[in-house]
Amino acid sequence: MRLTLTVNGERHTADDVWPGESLLYVLRERLGLPGTKNACEQGECGSCTVYLDGVTACSCLIAAGQAEGREIGTVEGLAGADDSGADDGEVSVLQNAFLETGAVQCGFCTPGLLVQADDLLRRTTARTGAIPSDGEIREALAGNLCRCTGYDAIMNAVRLAAERTATPSANGEPR
Ligand code: FES
Ligand code: FES
Repeated sequence: MRLTLTVNGERHTADDVWPGESLLYVLRERLGLPGTKNACEQGECGSCTVYLDGVTACSCLIAAGQAEGREIGTVEGLAGADDSGADDGEVSVLQNAFLETGAVQCGFCTPGLLVQADDLLRRTTARTGAIPSDGEIREALAGNLCRCTGYDAIMNAVRLAAERTATPSANGEPR
């Protein structure tokens, strides 16, 4: 089949796609977007997390045929946009927080964690200014496994990104 989909705002087409191959395979091997990682290929680890029409999902569990015409967001799409949406070539606040707190070791889990944490911050801090509780962060990231960090640094990273994303009023300061 010819597959047409939008990834990080850009329209892509791939030919000779088997409808049953995974979206993860399409992204990595056909579209040259290797940021999304393949670890378990069974929906268990979250390393392959992407946005599918704005909702996070494991791309290893999505068949290419199901992705036809859909809007996909990957870790590659998190960097580069400033407040106006223009590409400023910089890593995002969240990505920077992962770097600063040492939340990246081997890095295999990191793209999935970034997409999942980005979703949490979009639903909470970016919308209301509220900083998610530790319980909310843990719940949001419960499907993302990391074999290296012990998760403390990841929690620190998401807290730091939330604090930096929050509006001043969320911290009890005047706007
Ligand atoms: S590679 Fe998809 S959940 Fe592990
Ligand atoms: S940093 Fe290695 S699996 Fe998470």
